[in-house]
Amino acid sequence: MRSELRLLALMSAIVLLGSACHSATITGTVKGVDGAPSQGAFVEAQNAKTKITVIVLSDSQGHYRVENLPSGEYRVQIRAVGYRAEPQTGVNLAADQTTSLDFALQKGVVRWNDTSQYQAKQLWPAARAKDLIFTNCSICHGFQTRMASVTRDEDGWRDRVEFMRTAMHFNLPYLTDQDAADLASYLARLFGPDSVLTKSPEDMPGYKETVRPFSSDAALRRSEMRELVQLPIKTTSTAWPTSGLPASRPM
Ligand code: HEC
Repeated sequence: MRSELRLLALMSAIVLLGSACHSATITGTVKGVDGAPSQGAFVEAQNAKTKITVIVLSDSQGHYRVENLPSGEYRVQIRAVGYRAEPQTGVNLAADQTTSLDFALQKGVVRWNDTSQYQAKQLWPAARAKDLIFTNCSICHGFQTRMASVTRDEDGWRDRVEFMRTAMHFNLPYLTDQDAADLASYLARLFGPDSVLTKSPEDMPGYKETVRPFSSDAALRRSEMRELVQLPIKTTSTAWPTSGLPASRPM
């Protein structure tokens, strides 16, 4: 009986400790370049030790609130396409503490890896290879990190397309040698040293029409995806995610 009581006491202590450890809050306001409240900015609070990142969106009053954080040190930064704000580092939170941090957006640069697939479809030059990218490659990953973030010449792109054909052959069985050659040359036109694209998508004719107004519906859905563990991701060809991939792996 006594040992059972002790166990019970221990268990409630753990539960209490658990909840006490996750009760800090960061709140504040995001303002746009004009000083008006800015809706739809992503506020990311990353724990310095665990690297666990909690992401929330600012509401129509520019307010945001990141709740239930374990005590510790945080880095808080804003993500809003085309804007930037000074990140706040070394934000120390004690359990139960509420800290207020405001952010003022400045005009930043829109990069090609910030654009959505919809925008890319409107702004990239028409070509057969363009359709190949959206029908074959987008099944697994966006172009933003894998293609638009790196500059390679045609040989470099050919090499990476071949790598995909070998590694992902179950998902790319219909890709012919001609398709691969077209892809390499098109990718070099877009993301090569002599790119035909303007440095920023903002400078492309028709860019403004591709920017969709902020939708609070979609935002609400996004803000439910609160927690995201940002693990270090290796990009060498030996680092394979463990799920969702074909069973065969190249050496
Ligand atoms: C079946 C899923 C799948 C398909 C289809 C696919 N990829 Fe990939 N791709 C991946 C994975 C997984 C990685 C990460 C591999 C790594 O980093 O080792 C990757 C990485 C890449 C990289 C980065 C390679 C590097 O060295 O950094 C490029 C470029 C790339 N893919 C281009 C393409 C292109 C172009 C297509 C379409 C022809 C394509 N991918 C189709 C899954 C896929």
